[in-house]
Amino acid sequence: MKIHLPVREAILNRRTYEAPAEGRSNKLRLDFNENTSGCSPAVRRALAKLTSKQLAMYPEYQAPTQRIARYFGVRPEALLLTNGGDDALRVFFDTFVESGSGILICEPTFPMYRYYAEIYGARISVLRYGSEMEFPLEGVIAALRKKPRVLFLANPNNPTGTLLQKEELRRILKAATHTAVVMDEAYAEFSGFTAIPWIRKYPQLFVAKTFSKVAGLAALRLGAVIACEESLALVRRAMPPFPVNLAALVAAEAALNDGATMRRYVLQVQRLRAWFAAELEKLNVMTYPSAGNFLLANFGPGGPALFQKLEKQGILLRERSRDIGPGFVRITIGTQSEMQRLLKSIRKEWKAPA
Ligand SMILES: Cc1ncc(COP(=O)(O)O)c(C=O)c1O
Repeated sequence: MKIHLPVREAILNRRTYEAPAEGRSNKLRLDFNENTSGCSPAVRRALAKLTSKQLAMYPEYQAPTQRIARYFGVRPEALLLTNGGDDALRVFFDTFVESGSGILICEPTFPMYRYYAEIYGARISVLRYGSEMEFPLEGVIAALRKKPRVLFLANPNNPTGTLLQKEELRRILKAATHTAVVMDEAYAEFSGFTAIPWIRKYPQLFVAKTFSKVAGLAALRLGAVIACEESLALVRRAMPPFPVNLAALVAAEAALNDGATMRRYVLQVQRLRAWFAAELEKLNVMTYPSAGNFLLANFGPGGPALFQKLEKQGILLRERSRDIGPGFVRITIGTQSEMQRLLKSIRKEWKAPA
């Protein structure tokens, strides 16, 4: 029997997303911007208390939504929980993007915007960050005149670390009269800025959050979208009834109740980020100012060989030679001892060009 599966054009024309490397758990994981200090011990205690009865029930969202909304300083109606930050991005395609619709992104950036855009058959307009990783503000303002359905902005941006100035954000929002502006704030806690209070003034603003980074819950997959109630109500129409699992909710509540652990981690990242950038500078390695829990560095032509040597030693970094330029790499800021181990290996293996 000959079967023809009626696959969508956009799927036929793409390859499977390469799954991130496996077998990382015993390595020095400075490649995915995870919280390498681990989550609060209170999370494990809370998860251990889950009962068989609870696990057999469909999850209830009201109480956890209230708790998480309080943490973000918004009303529960302004918060939508999602299955990880990736899923908090997908909902904008379900809500706003039809095949052939335009979306706007600034690269290099988080690859999931492009990934979803390709799956949904969107027309992707791309602007580039400058050679010093400056945000292409004027290009964005001009491109908004073409009324793309969605503008995706990671703030701080991954992998450049760039943080928008408030005035830049204000100009973008004023120009975005026909565009949903998604501020992906996966790393906002490390920057000290969040656009969440701005949702009261700008109904086109949607803030996407994740519990994978500062809260250290990447394995549990919890994200959120925050927007003014009326705008978020539209996004809700595209959601399934049970998008988030109970373990993620229990873990998130425990993590938020232990704010001290998250604050300690943020301070550690900020301190080590500055120290590590200064150490790389001493080795004549160029870095870019970062507001995230990572650092973009340029080791130049000798970079790729260095990254291979480090990988052989079990040190994983995120090489960006292909999309930014030879020798570019994104380095997650880990604990002090992890960063010292990395620096020691770099010192041993890398020779700056004369
Ligand atoms: C900018 C940005 N947004 C969203 C995410 C998604 O995070 P998750 O799906 O783990 O919540 C990431 C993960 O690296 C990211 O870098």
